[in-house]
Amino acid sequence: MTQKRTSAGILGTGWCVPEKTVTNSDLEKMVDTSDAWIVERTGIHERHVAAEGQPVSDLAERAARMALEDAGVAAEDLDLIIVATLTSDRIIPSTACILQDRLGAKKAAAFDLSAACSGFAYGAAVASQFIAGGVYRHVLVIGAETLSKVVDWTDRNTCILFGDGAGAAVFGPVEDGYGLLGFDLGSDGSGGDVLDIPASGSLHPVTKEALEAHQQYIHMDGKAVFRFAVKIMGHTVEEALKKSNHTKEELDWLVPHQANIRIIDSAAKRLELPMEKVIINIEKYGNMSAASIPVALAEAAHAHRFKKGDLIALAGFGAGLTWASCIVKWAKED
Ligand code: ACO
Repeated sequence: MTQKRTSAGILGTGWCVPEKTVTNSDLEKMVDTSDAWIVERTGIHERHVAAEGQPVSDLAERAARMALEDAGVAAEDLDLIIVATLTSDRIIPSTACILQDRLGAKKAAAFDLSAACSGFAYGAAVASQFIAGGVYRHVLVIGAETLSKVVDWTDRNTCILFGDGAGAAVFGPVEDGYGLLGFDLGSDGSGGDVLDIPASGSLHPVTKEALEAHQQYIHMDGKAVFRFAVKIMGHTVEEALKKSNHTKEELDWLVPHQANIRIIDSAAKRLELPMEKVIINIEKYGNMSAASIPVALAEAAHAHRFKKGDLIALAGFGAGLTWASCIVKWAKED
């Protein structure tokens, strides 16, 4: 006899971006670029950046508190906290452990998840499995980044793209047939070098020479990432749809990773979704890596754009290389 699995869905969402903004015209004064180039090639107008001394845990905590309140779940009732980030406060302890303490989530296990921009969708899949299997009841998943601290502000190829922020969702049991219906997770480590931070770990520790060569910052072959992203975004959503026994015609919303408006546009075309059905906030935030999807999701949810029963695809890609999609049947009453 097979045990009945619990339906796992999103009970509440929250987000936070730092106050300070850097506009394209600010960047014109820092590197050889123009507002027109950035808008045309990426869709980005401005991005938020953390204050000096403001760690990622600060943004993550604010997003988490908002999500817990929205879900009506107390921190003490959390069983697990997952923080998807590539800019943790420190390598150890994990940012998830820092939050476990700050939130007072006394019984929660906690770990960070490393899947770059795909991290939140990876985390959502992990959370749903723990809940569906009956192991845990409430899981807090956060995507949070302070990319401004690992971006080379003298490199026009990268500094125009990224921003800081955090998004969070509380996962828990929902009505049968709702919640996370299927997912697709993938990786291709052979593409690891197209997007990396060379001096950030045991291979190349941060030495004086590494700092002088700007090896502590994000390095990216933008064209290679672009080609990969255009291929994978639509494909991963189609795979997740198959696994959840739905078709692209049934999709109500796409919440994509916000890396480049042209990548989002091509995914929407492949899925035959009009742009009104795609949640886009890249113009004001840029690429917030693991935070992009949950911030877009939370903003849309709090703007009452989703109604109960809507079929939503979350889709991301990023360093690794990684990709991930989740199909969610929205379970919350508006
Ligand atoms: N301002 C002005 N000109 C620029 C800038 C800039 N900021 N950056 C590059 N250029 C120049 C280039 O030097 C090049 O000049 P050249 O023709 O004289 O050599 C020209 O503009 C065209 O450059 P391309 O790289 O061909 O520009 P492209 O249209 O590919 O856009 C971009 C570049 C925006 C980086 C694009 O490739 C892209 O979005 N790639 C995907 C990046 C991405 O998604 N990364 C994040 C992944 S998620 C994660 O895990 C963190």
